[in-house]
Amino acid sequence: MHERHRDRRQCSLKGRVLIISTLCVACGIWSGLVCPSGGAFPAPSLPIYNNASDPTNAGASYVTSASCAACHPSFFELHNRHGHAQAFQSTNGSAPVYPADVEGPGVPDPPPGFDWSQIAYVLGGYTKGAYFINLDGFLMTTGGTGTSTRWNLANAANGTAPGFTPYEPALVNLSLPHEVNRRFTTGAQAPQPMGPLSQDSRPGIGGTWVEAGVQCEACHGPGSNHVPRPAARDLFVDSSGAQSCRNCHSGSPGLEEGAIPARDGFISARSEWVELKASGGHASFACTFCHDPHRSTTYDRTNAIRNQCRACHTTENMALHDGKVFTHPNGYTEVLSCESCHMPFAGRVVSAAAPEVVGPLARMGDSRTHIFRITTDPIDYTGFFTPDGSQVVRDAQGKAALTADFVCLRCHNDVALPNLSFSVDRASEIAIGVHREF
Ligand code: HEC
Ligand code: HEC
Ligand code: HEC
Ligand code: HEC
Ligand code: HEC
Ligand code: HEC
Ligand code: HEC
Repeated sequence: MHERHRDRRQCSLKGRVLIISTLCVACGIWSGLVCPSGGAFPAPSLPIYNNASDPTNAGASYVTSASCAACHPSFFELHNRHGHAQAFQSTNGSAPVYPADVEGPGVPDPPPGFDWSQIAYVLGGYTKGAYFINLDGFLMTTGGTGTSTRWNLANAANGTAPGFTPYEPALVNLSLPHEVNRRFTTGAQAPQPMGPLSQDSRPGIGGTWVEAGVQCEACHGPGSNHVPRPAARDLFVDSSGAQSCRNCHSGSPGLEEGAIPARDGFISARSEWVELKASGGHASFACTFCHDPHRSTTYDRTNAIRNQCRACHTTENMALHDGKVFTHPNGYTEVLSCESCHMPFAGRVVSAAAPEVVGPLARMGDSRTHIFRITTDPIDYTGFFTPDGSQVVRDAQGKAALTADFVCLRCHNDVALPNLSFSVDRASEIAIGVHREF
């Protein structure tokens, strides 16, 4: 059954790419003309899933990903290497364990002065950095412990070395209410007046969950009806991503609809849904136009992106950077790609580049933005964010655009390319004609 399953999926994907390129050519947008449909991009055809509307699967209950693995072993294996599967772990008195065949992740020690028996859970630790939850269910802060309580993984691109750093020095206790923990657990339930108030009776945690991490049923809904009779195919598959991806990748619940939340001069972690809405040309795309939902962009980059930029933008050139390779004096190298400029690291999950790495003017966090558009106005990040710094500026059509300090200056600075170091003004000036053929 498994092979048949995969075949169906491959056919549908081929169809999908074909439809996209046909439409693109037909509306002539690749030569710079305006698409007759006014820029709105028709959704590609998707395989017909039986249940695309009911995330509860008719009131089923959760059975956990181990049961899914029994019949869908290859989906399980891919998913296990994804940040979703590893987002949150119970420590059981020792260091968290990550997939053995993935190089890089790891949280060798608990915060200085603590041992693993004092840690209930580790949040993250697989792609960017880790936070620690104590036995009472509170997120450990520097204000509460007097020590560094966040672990940074190595990040070659922004020059971050692995190590502990201070986290929230002004806060003593940080709880994990349902609205927060539902974003990295599966089957999360708000505290029930008649039922359990907190997972494992840890007072810092609001509500309960069935499985730690973003597992199969976080996107497909509870599986108890599907497992005994799979042929009924009554399992939720959200091909638009409107419910599943948006639930967790839409930024802060405290801001108005569509706002892109920011803090300390960077876009807040995991705001991709609202960023995409502000991207102009990609605003109507489902995440799965570009992403395979089961594959990690960090550890399986080549296969995780199903449509590269040039699958659709067939005639766009490399904007003066064809074949260029960026080499930082610290050893980091990057072959220039469309993403180098259009998906710069304007978001921050844990770390940001220090001025010794990118010079005093550049802005570089650790997470690639999905805004894609670049402004040629000579403004820096202070004009990219609202004056109070709480969100990204959007125009009357709801669109945002990246500034040159995020885009060009992370490479074109005194440290990395001293002979081609630009100010924001100079970079913005060059940017105006950057895709023109000379
Ligand atoms: C007993 C084996 C079995 C188990 C356990 C199982 N599945 Fe399936 N699943 C199948 C089969 C077989 C199909 C294909 C049915 C068909 O196409 O007729 C399927 C189809 C699906 C589909 C596609 C639905 C559609 O509309 O085409 C999804 C999604 C899915 N399974 C996810 C899961 C998840 C998540 C779990 C764990 C909660 C799970 N499965 C557990 C056997 C199983
Ligand atoms: C982040 C959300 C997410 C998670 C987590 C997830 N899936 Fe999926 N899955 C999707 C989406 C979206 C699709 C729709 C098809 C696509 O875009 O690839 C899908 C499709 C499927 C299908 C149908 C594929 C087909 O034949 O068309 C199966 C089976 C499946 N998932 C199983 C699983 C299993 C098993 C797990 C856990 C090991 C899992 N999924 C975890 C989002 C997810
Ligand atoms: C229940 C919440 C939740 C849902 C639903 C969800 N995500 Fe995530 N996603 C997360 C969290 C939390 C992380 C960070 C995991 C980490 O790196 O520790 C993440 C990370 C990712 C990553 C980076 C993973 C890596 O290994 O590099 C991608 C890509 C991603 N999500 C895409 C999607 C897409 C596409 C969907 C919808 C199909 C989706 N997510 C649905 C919570 C969610
Ligand atoms: C137009 C294509 C496209 C669309 C649409 C898209 N993504 Fe991405 N996304 C990418 C590419 C390409 C990368 C990987 C860039 C790299 O690291 O090389 C990526 C990376 C990511 C990452 C990891 C970012 C990081 O640096 O850690 C997350 C999380 C993510 N996407 C989530 C989403 C979500 C959620 C959606 C839907 C709201 C979405 N993406 C829609 C192309 C897309
Ligand atoms: C699935 C097809 C598809 C993929 C993949 C895709 N794009 Fe697009 N892109 C479009 C369409 C359609 C538009 C809208 C064109 C228009 O409105 O004229 C667009 C518009 C844009 C715009 C202009 C945005 C604006 O409104 O000013 C930029 C920049 C862009 N894409 C960059 C990228 C980059 C970089 C990638 C790869 C990470 C990428 N695209 C991947 C289809 C795609
Ligand atoms: C060196 C940085 C850089 C690289 C690399 C780059 N771009 Fe751009 N791109 C820009 C800038 C800057 C603009 C805005 C220029 C303007 O508005 O005149 C832009 C504009 C665009 C637009 C909007 C064009 C329009 O007329 O509205 C699209 C689409 C686009 N790029 C796609 C791509 C694709 C696809 C790639 C990879 C093949 C790519 N870019 C590589 C810097 C870059
Ligand atoms: C990922 C790093 C990176 C980014 C981002 C980047 N560049 Fe470059 N750029 C390079 C490298 C590397 C070279 C080649 C340097 C050399 O040859 O010594 C280069 C060369 C150039 C040149 C000289 C081209 C030539 O052929 O002589 C210009 C002009 C330039 N970049 C402008 C820009 C502008 C404007 C932006 C932002 C829109 C930008 N770059 C974004 C890395 C980058």
